[in-house]
Amino acid sequence: MKTSPLQPHFGTIVTADPGETVADIDHDTVVSLIKERGTVLFTGFGASREDFDSFTDTISEDYMDYKGGGYVRKSVGGGKGEGKALLSTRYDHGRKTQMTFGLPLHGEMYYIDGRPQALWFYCVKPADADGQTTACDGAEVYNRLGQKWKDLLHEKRLMFLRVYRDGEWQKIYQTEDSAEACKFAEGNGITVEFDEAEKTMRTKYLVSAVLPTKWGGHTAYINNLLTVYMQMQMGRGDTSTVWLEDGSPIPDELMEEVKRVQDELIVDLNWTAGDFAILDNSRALHGRRAFEDTDREVYLRMVRSVPF
Ligand SMILES: [Fe+2]
Repeated sequence: MKTSPLQPHFGTIVTADPGETVADIDHDTVVSLIKERGTVLFTGFGASREDFDSFTDTISEDYMDYKGGGYVRKSVGGGKGEGKALLSTRYDHGRKTQMTFGLPLHGEMYYIDGRPQALWFYCVKPADADGQTTACDGAEVYNRLGQKWKDLLHEKRLMFLRVYRDGEWQKIYQTEDSAEACKFAEGNGITVEFDEAEKTMRTKYLVSAVLPTKWGGHTAYINNLLTVYMQMQMGRGDTSTVWLEDGSPIPDELMEEVKRVQDELIVDLNWTAGDFAILDNSRALHGRRAFEDTDREVYLRMVRSVPF
């Protein structure tokens, strides 16, 4: 197999030589690439679902489901762990057709404490056009931010506020029992108020936008800020909002700078069927290009903690 950089200091593409299969990929090489490069894309191996399951199980075994997530993900099973480890990225809140809009760069589940350390993506079928998964080096985003924004983000955490109406928190927390939902949230660093009359759940979560990476000693700009900020800008932020921890608004100039820097650094993972990738969720931001082909299918497997 051949390795080539996705970008000079971030990401590696591992390309199969003719006849090579996932069984030929060296475990130790993969582990060191994840630690050093933040993102590894495996292409040309033509991996089946079973190949992907067994390969990922050689690298990681502690998987998590999507409880408490921002969307409702359908489990397609497979792999070790809780048996709900492989998630389709197609469905949200019981929709029959998948949503095809682009997703801004974000860290996965940075609105709860129990976020995954690493993410596996597996491409069953790429979109006919566009629809790439995107990645971006959060450590380099941090490096390129102006000092005043670094200072602000070290001084003040982000405050995510959410209102889950009756019917909604049950889906997000995967239970009908409000006490159980509140317990899960509180166990994840979230402050919860439950309105018994309205059966409404209000949550508050504080987290820094800039955090140390798991490997390499970097500080990364990694969070869910842009997603929620953009929803608020589009007027869809009545139930999900983000502020600085003192309640002041996120400065628009900060977000302009973040978007400018991310545009300089964003890279596409150009899927072919059977490709897969691993992202360090403490360093690599990810997102998705918009697309039209509703047969696109990319699976996600979230690793709670890696054994290395
Ligand atoms: Fe995501």
